[in-house]
Amino acid sequence: MSRAEQIHGLLSHIPGDDSFNLNDIECIWELGQKVPEGATVLEIGSRFGRSACSWALAIKNSTVYTMDVHDNREKIREYAKKIGLEGRVIPLWGNSFKYPWIKDVDIVFIDGDHDYNAVMLDLKKYYPLIKTLICGHDYFHPEFPDVKKAVDEFFFNRKQRRNIWHAWKAQPLVVCGIPRTGTTIVANVLKSHPEINMTVENLLVFRLVQFVQKFKMEHPLVESAHGIRVPSIGEFERIKHHLLNSFRDALINIYEARKYKYYGDKFPNILFTLHYFDMLLPNVKYIVTKKADFEYCLRSCLTQPWSERFNITRGSYKDRWDRGMALIDKIKDQKNVYILDHDLFCKEPKAEMDKVAKFLGIGNKFDVSRVIRE
Ligand SMILES: C[S@@+](CC[C@H](N)C(=O)[O-])C[C@H]1O[C@@H](n2cnc3c(N)ncnc32)[C@H](O)[C@@H]1O
Repeated sequence: MSRAEQIHGLLSHIPGDDSFNLNDIECIWELGQKVPEGATVLEIGSRFGRSACSWALAIKNSTVYTMDVHDNREKIREYAKKIGLEGRVIPLWGNSFKYPWIKDVDIVFIDGDHDYNAVMLDLKKYYPLIKTLICGHDYFHPEFPDVKKAVDEFFFNRKQRRNIWHAWKAQPLVVCGIPRTGTTIVANVLKSHPEINMTVENLLVFRLVQFVQKFKMEHPLVESAHGIRVPSIGEFERIKHHLLNSFRDALINIYEARKYKYYGDKFPNILFTLHYFDMLLPNVKYIVTKKADFEYCLRSCLTQPWSERFNITRGSYKDRWDRGMALIDKIKDQKNVYILDHDLFCKEPKAEMDKVAKFLGIGNKFDVSRVIRE
């Protein structure tokens, strides 16, 4: 018996019609396996908690808030308790359009009012607030064509294949490298992809750097550009929380993010703090540009007066370069870091971008025509 079938059996005592069926439970189970343990879910439209309990059973140690305009709180508590979910399914009574936001919700599941305007209201209110995933029921339900209409419109006709539609929050992507190693050109090629957008340079990452710098004053976690003291668990959680929040705030300010799978930024000097960010922001992907021709790089850098002014690390350019290269060596095997070889990129841009596409889990639809051959 599959896990979804087991859950279906467990839910048999909870009233509800057949419209929430085994396929839906399977879908919730699959989505649940892709989010971290302990996630917080908010469900809009819970009736007696069938789907809410499915979420709680699909994600280990999760907390599920249910919300309904009808006051079924007592019943929901009772049904959840019967299957060992006491305290993990927390019923709320209210209207999703008016209810105050519950901080730090990872996932919102929409199954409330199925009219076009209502679905749109829920999407507009909740998409900017969630951390990870927004999804909902009845995308293909013949009686509720408005659900599909609203979801398609809101997500720019992204393909939906199942009755439970879903959209992940755009994933952060950072292009970084030592200055003069082709970060601009790489960011431009990435931006040509229909599933990627890059912000104006430094918009997102600058906030992170500001934060790290501020934090560094209170807690000398980054003792030198590449010497990192391992923080205690409490410190780590605190920093992680702040960093994730500032990154998310920056992302949600950009309404268009919902159109893309990746939303990215470019920040050449981040290379020196990459190790640090990587420890704190595990779901961010990095593309690091590497240029083997150091002489060329140094020369071109020295002829650019701006590069001297743009200096967040102490030490000479040569020092920075050496440290950068040492760091590239250190991080090259990390799963969320792709080291793009600048020379290969210039000679064989299509082949190199093929590998980048694989790394990002998207098709190679990059326009590499703007790559300049040096
Ligand atoms: C299709 S049922 C939900 C079924 C439920 N997910 C289950 O697993 O059994 C829709 C529910 O949404 C509730 N509802 C409708 N509009 C709402 C709103 N604006 N806010 C909260 N709940 C709402 C209704 O009272 C109803 O119980």
